[in-house]
Order: sequence, then C-alpha cells, then structure tokens
Amino acid sequence: MDAFGGGKVILLGEHSVVYGHPALAAGLGVGASARVVRAPRDQLVVNPWDVTVSPDSAEPLGQALAAALSLYPERHPVRVEADVAIPGGAGLGCSAALGVAVIAALDEHFGVDRTPSERGEVSLSWEQVFHGTPSGVDNTMAAVGGIALYRKGHPLEPIRARHPLCLVIAHSGEASSTKEVVSMVRRQHEKDTARIDELFEAIAVLVRNARLAVEGGDIKSVGQLMDMNQGLLSALMLSTESLERLCRSARAAGALGAKLTGAGGGGCMIALAPDLEAAEAIRSELAEHATWTAVAEAGARAS
Ligand code: PMV
Repeated sequence: MDAFGGGKVILLGEHSVVYGHPALAAGLGVGASARVVRAPRDQLVVNPWDVTVSPDSAEPLGQALAAALSLYPERHPVRVEADVAIPGGAGLGCSAALGVAVIAALDEHFGVDRTPSERGEVSLSWEQVFHGTPSGVDNTMAAVGGIALYRKGHPLEPIRARHPLCLVIAHSGEASSTKEVVSMVRRQHEKDTARIDELFEAIAVLVRNARLAVEGGDIKSVGQLMDMNQGLLSALMLSTESLERLCRSARAAGALGAKLTGAGGGGCMIALAPDLEAAEAIRSELAEHATWTAVAEAGARAS
C-alpha cells in the first residue's frame, strides 16, 4: 500500500500560529501518496504535475527531496513516485502532505520506524524549503490527522469532537504563496507590533473558545467564531474579493460560518455546515464561483 500524507485545513488561528499562538486544525482524508523503488539514481516524480526532480536540482522540490533523503545516511539510490489529490498553493497544506507521504514511503522502504508525530517533526525540514519559517502545523497535521490544537514548541493536543465537523472547501482560483503572504504579515508586525499582537491575541481567544465549542458539540458557536476569525484575517489584509464572495455565498446557502483557510491572499475558503446534506447543498451553490470544491467530515470516529 502507498504511504500517505494528509492535507489539512486550519479551522481557526492561521498566521497567529506563526507567532506562538494556538491554531485549531483538522486533517483531511485526501492529500498525497508515495511509493519508493530501488533505482540507479535518486529521483522524485510527482505524477499529476508531470514533474521529475533530483536532489541536486536548485528547484525547491529538489532541495526538499535532498532534505528528506538526508534522513537516511546509509542507503542505496531510490526513485520516489508520488500522487497529489489536493490543489497546491491553496491553503490546504499540499507541500506538507507531499513531504509526509515521501518520508513515510522512504521510512517503509528503508525499514525506519517512526510514530506519526515523529514523522511530522522530521518533515519540518522539507516544509522549510517551501515556507521559510513554517509554524509546523502543516507537517504535524499531515502526519497525525484528526482535529487538534497546535502550538509551536508544544505537544499536539488531539481534540475529541462531540459531533463531526462537516466542512465545505472551495478554491477561489487565485494562487497564493504562503511564503510571500507570511512575509507580508511579518512586515505589518514589524511596523506596528503592538496593534498586530493585539489582533493575534484576539484570534487566540477565538481559537480557545472554538476548541471548547468543538469539544462540547456546539457547532453553531464554532461557526460564529470562524466568522469572527475571518473579520480579523481581513483586518490583516489577507482576504480577497473572491474569498469574500465565497464566504457570503456559503453563509447565504446555510453555512454556520465561513472563512479563508491557510495563508490567504487567495487559495481556499472553508465553510461549516450543520450536516453532510447541507454541506453538499452549499458545495453545489459554490461550485460556479470556485475552481475546486470538496466536502470533508473532520473528527468523524471510525465505527
Ligand atoms: O497555506 P498553508 O496551507 O501552507 O497554511 C499556512 C498557515 C500559516 O499559518 C499562514 C503559516 C504557518 O506556517 O503556520
């Protein structure tokens, strides 16, 4: 069976998480898969992108491969083949999902034993190639999944949701570079540290209350807190006309709350639906304004 790395959505708390505040995130059942075979030289092939790189390539993907291979000092050359089922540059943690899938496949091939959270940790060096100063939420969630509270430098806190969260994900069609958007926020923070810190602290309060609401099954409050988080993200100039339109349409179609997810400045929106049927209705409402849509159930327990 192929090794897997999951996509993720940040339910609340993107950007403030880079500054040490908590974020509430949910792993997705879709992401990236990878397999490894012995080969004459090291290579990574990402099938849907029609991309082949070697670890000595100057491209970020080549450098990321080099970072992953450096985890296995004594080894033979390999060819890693990967598939990706989520859009990249969209706030869904695509690069981290790919990194975790590649490292999980290499672990399996070379007989290295790691827990999911250890795999999340070692995948940070892959993620750093793409994002410079990642908080670590993407690679951790890609490896561990579920719903969890993530805080830089702290153990991941898994959350038991009383009711699963039915999410609609819609891609605005605008590409977004996490690295650039995180730098834009950093510039705001350098220029007006006290005001931006206040915004981050306000987001942290929303995250903590959302955690309680998820645990208590109060999904109406989760939705309201997501809306408030969207307001604060807009204050950081992270929303766009298309993301706002998607959020408005989702709420008008019955969503309990909606916000951008991930870096923003484009990429995806998430909306919380009361149930799966409503989620499908919201999704079909959004389909004409979005380039990619999905319905995901986060926190559903296996029966
Ligand atoms: O755009 P994504 O899926 O890489 O999510 C980025 C989340 C940020 O909080 C903006 C950055 C980070 O490293 O946590």
